[in-house]
Amino acid sequence: MLSYQHIYHAGNFADVHKHTVLALLLQALQRKPTALCYLETHAGRALYDLHDPLAQKNCEFEQGVSRLLAESSPPAMLAGYLAYIYKCNHPGNTLRFYPGSPLLARELLREQDAMILAELHPQEIPLLRQQLQQDKRIAIHQRDGYEMLRALLPVKQSRGLVLIDPAYELKSDYAQVVTALELIQQRWPGGVAMVWYPLLTASAHDNFIQALRKSALRDVLCCELQVQSYAGLPGMKGSGVIILRPPWQVDTQLQELLPYLADLLQQDASATHWRVEQLIAE
Ligand SMILES: C[S@@+](CC[C@H](N)C(=O)[O-])C[C@H]1O[C@@H](n2cnc3c(N)ncnc32)[C@H](O)[C@@H]1O
Repeated sequence: MLSYQHIYHAGNFADVHKHTVLALLLQALQRKPTALCYLETHAGRALYDLHDPLAQKNCEFEQGVSRLLAESSPPAMLAGYLAYIYKCNHPGNTLRFYPGSPLLARELLREQDAMILAELHPQEIPLLRQQLQQDKRIAIHQRDGYEMLRALLPVKQSRGLVLIDPAYELKSDYAQVVTALELIQQRWPGGVAMVWYPLLTASAHDNFIQALRKSALRDVLCCELQVQSYAGLPGMKGSGVIILRPPWQVDTQLQELLPYLADLLQQDASATHWRVEQLIAE
């Protein structure tokens, strides 16, 4: 039973973290002209209306993308991401729509690139199709994202990126993510992968990080942003991203981006923390 709906969280601090890293990865992969394939295992609906009552319930975007849009001189490396947020809200430039990862990725891909998306939720899939199915570069599947990777890898393009962004409603997601990364490493030598995970308590993601360290994976970068103290009410206190085979110089870019995001998105200055660390060597 799928109950998670991303619209409650669209544009929040974790989306800003995840989507700015995604944009940097796609830009880095496009330094070479050969075609890319972008795959996503948990796509969501593509475009989020922040006036929807579900998005308005907690207005999480106010502590996320709204803060970035209020900045007078954001870092140049965020130009591609920010330009697209403005484009989604044109004319007027008042924040109403927030693009999910498939829409942002489509904007950043080139003519020669391709995109393959999986989404399971019966409510999200028609919205995803409505936004993206006219684009001949894009294939949309209503199927389990992990199963899709097993069925389709390696794709015909020798290079590309897989985004794995589960809701972690099921504890088994953590183990499935590790297995999926091993599959990508094994079957697609030119494939880069990015995984998002929540920081819920000081130790909730320790087992996941340990499982990554104990796996057969090589060349893994970890990039975490904590914006709230782990004390207090339960909830998401931070956002984490794992990158398998990070493209050249992305680590340096993240070392510059993360302190900026930490300062911008912090909800409790004394608890704010970030790290960009090579978890597993090449
Ligand atoms: C966190 S949301 C995705 C958000 C999106 N990646 C973004 O950044 O805009 C997770 C999505 O995965 C979908 N989902 C859950 N389990 C799935 C599975 N096994 N395979 C494919 N999609 C799944 C949910 O319906 C939900 O829309």
